[in-house]
Amino acid sequence: MKKILIINGPNLNLLGRREPEIYGNKSFNEYFLELELRYPDVQLEYLQSNHEGHIIDRLHSVGFSYDGIILNAGAYTHTSLAIHDAIKSITTPVVELHISNVYAREEFRRHSMIAPACRGCICGFGLKGYDLAIESFL
Ligand code: DQA
Repeated sequence: MKKILIINGPNLNLLGRREPEIYGNKSFNEYFLELELRYPDVQLEYLQSNHEGHIIDRLHSVGFSYDGIILNAGAYTHTSLAIHDAIKSITTPVVELHISNVYAREEFRRHSMIAPACRGCICGFGLKGYDLAIESFL
């Protein structure tokens, strides 16, 4: 059974309540239950953290044994060299994910520090992007 970890970074604990016109009305916990039903043959795990070091620790702990990591690093996407280096340091492929189309928003969201370290990037498809990212590992 494939093992895939989804990591959501800062402020994504507020999905469903945070700027719903951009991020939608559904909480991630609700969506995660749907994912588990849709992918019964995948061992899915989910971490949300507002802390950069916590995200890095989890990348290290699963990054030599899991089949894939889906990372929505939130605003750390645009700032974190440490997360870039953590992704480079592990062997499990990482897919960068954004719920919104970051290229259609503010200028400062157009640069990703982590993109060069990732296998690919999915953005702008709402929560459906997590399905697409899972599919990319199957
Ligand atoms: C986001 C986009 C980022 O620019 C932002 O800081 C987020 C969410 C997204 O999923 O669209 O927190 O990663």
